[in-house]
Amino acid sequence: MLSNSVKEALNNQIKLEGDSSNGYLAMAVWAEINGFEGVANFLYEHSEEERMHMLKLVKFINERNGEAIVPQFEKPKNNFSSLNELFEAVLAHEIKVSENINNIVELTLNEKDYATHNFLQWYVSEQIEEERLCRLILEKLDLIGSDKGGLYLFDRDIQSLHTKLAK
Ligand code: FEO
Repeated sequence: MLSNSVKEALNNQIKLEGDSSNGYLAMAVWAEINGFEGVANFLYEHSEEERMHMLKLVKFINERNGEAIVPQFEKPKNNFSSLNELFEAVLAHEIKVSENINNIVELTLNEKDYATHNFLQWYVSEQIEEERLCRLILEKLDLIGSDKGGLYLFDRDIQSLHTKLAK
């Protein structure tokens, strides 16, 4: 049985993961129409992953006698001046998600809800990976600067960066 406060915190997380999914979808569209096909594919995939993070929470809440609430989502930002600005926004968002997850983990400990605490460990690990990947991407973009050839290669190789890190 979930306590009301844990239920509310998990439902808030549903909104945050859904906002992530929509945000990355809008970013994918921007990348696609601006000629960054590799980045677009990477972000479409990332958007799907965030939807999966949201669904995992939905199922968990329902399985524990709660009721998952499908919220109204934010309208995502859909215009960026550069890939750098876009990935800075991804990193800032992921840091916010990590903070939120950590707060819920703390709440579950205070409430001695060890089942939810255990469930959230998957999210804790996932956030470490996502932040790491984002920082790596930003380091690469900083090195490339405005060099067109470099950006072309970055766009071509971004998917393999993701795959390499996942191993
Ligand atoms: Fe599911 Fe990237 O937070």
